[in-house]
Amino acid sequence: MKAEASAPGKVILVGEHFVVENQPAIAVALDLRAKVLVEVLEGEPKIEITSKNLVISEVFTLTSVNKESPLYPIYYAAKTTMDFIGKEKPLRIIIDSEIPPAAGMGSSGSVAVATVAATSSALGVSLGKEDISRLAYQAEVIVHGKPSGIDNTIATYGAAIAYRKTEGFVELKADFSPVLLVLADSGIPRSTGEMVRRVRALKERYPKIMNPLYHAAGHLAIEAGKAIEAGDFERLGELMNINHGMLSAVGVSNLVLEKLVYVARKSGALGAKITGAGGGGFIVALCWREDAEKVAESLRNLSNRVIVGQISQEGVRVESSL
Ligand code: MEV
Repeated sequence: MKAEASAPGKVILVGEHFVVENQPAIAVALDLRAKVLVEVLEGEPKIEITSKNLVISEVFTLTSVNKESPLYPIYYAAKTTMDFIGKEKPLRIIIDSEIPPAAGMGSSGSVAVATVAATSSALGVSLGKEDISRLAYQAEVIVHGKPSGIDNTIATYGAAIAYRKTEGFVELKADFSPVLLVLADSGIPRSTGEMVRRVRALKERYPKIMNPLYHAAGHLAIEAGKAIEAGDFERLGELMNINHGMLSAVGVSNLVLEKLVYVARKSGALGAKITGAGGGGFIVALCWREDAEKVAESLRNLSNRVIVGQISQEGVRVESSL
């Protein structure tokens, strides 16, 4: 038995980091996908994993599990899925992702979601989205420490969501066709878990300053949700700019990211900000469809990787099951 599943990457439009402390945030799915192929093998339990992107392979067995491996979260997602459905089989897993890793676009969450969906399908079980997202979250805990759950949720459900840790998500009814997202890479790698730890430590050192900032960020996300549903992208852009200032205040910006953000704004973006954990990774610029190429061109002078993306309605999808 074999199955292939895919899940989209994501962009957080407003509210990253603040969402970790239970403030609302808004995320959209991108039209870049992570694909995972799972094949059920014969014989002793083992999980063979190959990442075409990282160009590495590793075999995990009952007696040998390398927890330091970058492929360990994928092993963990597949193993947790098998434990949940009560079937243990040897597996071969092949990852092929269009989503840049460690970039703020939810690559690990999308791979985890697609792994859970492909593993269960290959074993002949069709899991509901709630189970897929929950099992993928457990693998995200291995990668990021204490994630909010927004990445696995948007990768599972797609489209645009308002998310709050303790309340889950609501889908935003929106027509994004007038806009495109331009994403530009700072070229600086970083770890989401490490950035989240640093921001939390800063918040703990200055609670009287940070608590009101976190509340304001929560209000901002609610306003952004309303702007999206009203199709008011100028207002959304302005709110993204304000949110970028808040992210700078919690210490996740740097000179390279600031330059990208200001060049995007100057060349016609409606709004521009860090997306994801910051400290490196990508910035996102919200642009009228007709202005996107001009903004992308300006960003190409500073960044080696500029992506013009659109919002995807589709979440996790089982592509084929044989
Ligand atoms: C990561 O995509 C977004 C953060 O808010 C972390 C999280 O939500 O778990 C920085």
